[in-house]
Amino acid sequence: MTKAFNKYLITAALPYANGPVHIGHLAGCYLPADIYVRYLKAKGKDVLFICGSDEHGVPITIKAKKESISPQQVVDKYHQIMKQAFADFGIDFSYYGRTSSETHKETAQAFFKKLYDKGVFKEEITSQFYDESAQQFLADRYITGTCPKCASAGAYGDQCEKCGTTLNATELINPTSTLSGNKPVLKETKNWFLPMGAIQESAEFKNYIERIDTWKSNIKGQCNSWLSEGLQPRAMTRDLDWGVPVPLPDADGKVLYVWFDAPIGYISATKEYLKQEGRLDEMESYWNNDETALIHFIGKDNIVFHAIIFPMMLMTHGNFNLPENIPANEFLNLEGDKISTSKNWAVWLHEYLTDLPDRQDELRYVLTSISPETKDSEFTWKDYQTRVNSELVSIFGNFVNRVAVLCQKFYEGNVPTPNACTNELYLKAKQTLTTDVNESLTNMENNLNLVKIRDAQADWMNIARAGNKFLAETEPWKLIKTDPETVKTILFDAVQLCAKLAISAQVFLPKTAQKLAAMFGVNDLSWNGLNAHHIVLPGSALGNVEILFKPIEDELVEVQIQKLNQKRTQVPVVTPEQSAVKPEISFDDFSKIDLRVGLVTAAERVPKADKLLKLQVDLGFEERTILSGIAEFYTPEMMLGKHVAVIVNLAPRKIRGVESQGMLLMAGDGKNKLVSIIPEQGIEPGSEIK
Ligand code: 2FM
Ligand code: ZN
Repeated sequence: MTKAFNKYLITAALPYANGPVHIGHLAGCYLPADIYVRYLKAKGKDVLFICGSDEHGVPITIKAKKESISPQQVVDKYHQIMKQAFADFGIDFSYYGRTSSETHKETAQAFFKKLYDKGVFKEEITSQFYDESAQQFLADRYITGTCPKCASAGAYGDQCEKCGTTLNATELINPTSTLSGNKPVLKETKNWFLPMGAIQESAEFKNYIERIDTWKSNIKGQCNSWLSEGLQPRAMTRDLDWGVPVPLPDADGKVLYVWFDAPIGYISATKEYLKQEGRLDEMESYWNNDETALIHFIGKDNIVFHAIIFPMMLMTHGNFNLPENIPANEFLNLEGDKISTSKNWAVWLHEYLTDLPDRQDELRYVLTSISPETKDSEFTWKDYQTRVNSELVSIFGNFVNRVAVLCQKFYEGNVPTPNACTNELYLKAKQTLTTDVNESLTNMENNLNLVKIRDAQADWMNIARAGNKFLAETEPWKLIKTDPETVKTILFDAVQLCAKLAISAQVFLPKTAQKLAAMFGVNDLSWNGLNAHHIVLPGSALGNVEILFKPIEDELVEVQIQKLNQKRTQVPVVTPEQSAVKPEISFDDFSKIDLRVGLVTAAERVPKADKLLKLQVDLGFEERTILSGIAEFYTPEMMLGKHVAVIVNLAPRKIRGVESQGMLLMAGDGKNKLVSIIPEQGIEPGSEIK
């Protein structure tokens, strides 16, 4: 972002209302956004900070199935929980909307209709999977099958989570509907596509996309890789019953694609906010104004939607600003593993607050210190403890507490009056202090402007470090006996530094900043106070002096680690695709399957197929070659000499040019675990299993 702006429209990705908020959400998107917004506001800028719950899309319907409630009940429940968690952690949205609101529906439909009327969309009839027993088209996530690339089972219709390949549902081997367990059929349906390839070639898009050169490298990298492959038309509507209905006469049973509808949530939430404030006439000044910067805070999984698709929607619609910056973060991991809502591998914000009440700022501080700005980072409870104890308590807390206590002790809780003192020791220390603090303040400001909040917070902590150094060099507690006049000046300076810490802390640690400001009588927290010579007047009384941060005890950390370890051993949550029982079959049907014991006599990896093993299996009556997608769980050595259960009358299938003449029986959760079904005791190869 090169131009200076006075008005800002800051958005934070609308989180799916399908679960509570965890530390990964906070670190990845909402905390950096909040810090940046607080900074802009402290500088006196005109800022709107917009977010809300994303209440449509398949993640919601999957959750509804899992909890056996309606999608509306899911979003009603989680919208409240999420809104509360953000508020509890001081994420200061101007407005937190929801995409199930009437205003949103009208706004999204009008947006779609405008593009439709301008002839932007291409109508296309395509064949989509349809579940005849459930009588509905299947969203990609409702179809599973074997991945055509790596042969692992449980790949979704849009992606194989094992090998990461993006898929079309029709590419899956043995596609199965997770709604009924049946094989879906292909059925023709009409949808409306955004011709992304054509828009990519437009002068307006080319002009817009030039700005990514000034953005972070993660966003540049993803955009360039998409653009260089050439964009394909993408359907902006879906055959689903949950979402914003397509506003066309011939579109029964169709809704707007969630990635079309969700970003429009930024527009509808702004509208709701301005309406509520009686300022609806200012809509254009935020959304269609050269003087306003539109900035999207998102996680890396949202990049293409915000940097390419939404801008294409905005530019084809017309009369909208395009994003000025998209500071996308990478992911936060937890104690060595990816954070996962479905596996309950997370530190949930509401649980954190129950276990560590009133310690929001400790979490904000630690998450900002490890903000995954350039690469994935990791939260551990030990690191949390270290950062709180050795930085917040020992550096920052220690400094402000010493200053307050000395003022209480020497001046009855008042700010002393400085004088033109000539003490050499003081003058030297003051010189160093001024240089160090000015440097830290300049760096902090530069980093905040660049949305490098991790570095900015480190600069802030350096201000407190400089304060401690100043006290250590001047030793006012000793000097009071020999040169009490100089001590007045030292502590006056130290109080001013505490005031500067309060002003700058408001962006990182809002609760602490308020307490600190009250403690030292800082009435005005506006940013230009940082340049003022004196913020707090001599003779003014200190407020309530309190310890701002208490050390985190070992025991607390142990309890949190144990809590997580219990989660590791818990049975994973059953996913709907696991719980869907296939339709009943007769005994005759079952007996058509010929199951035998086999003995693995040779095993090797398949070149360029990370998941596949090629096995020679002795079945007593003959030896067969069988390809099995188990290489992530078994090495060739582990399989050699193993007895296995084999379906021997399955039609042979070619995988990677090799004919697989049977299939091994394995038990798995479709994700993390796959184990071979083996006979309990040694038994001759070829023995029947029944
Ligand atoms: O990935 C997600 O959680 C989406 N709900 C983000 C949507 S952001 C925007 F488009 F609203
Ligand atoms: Zn795969």
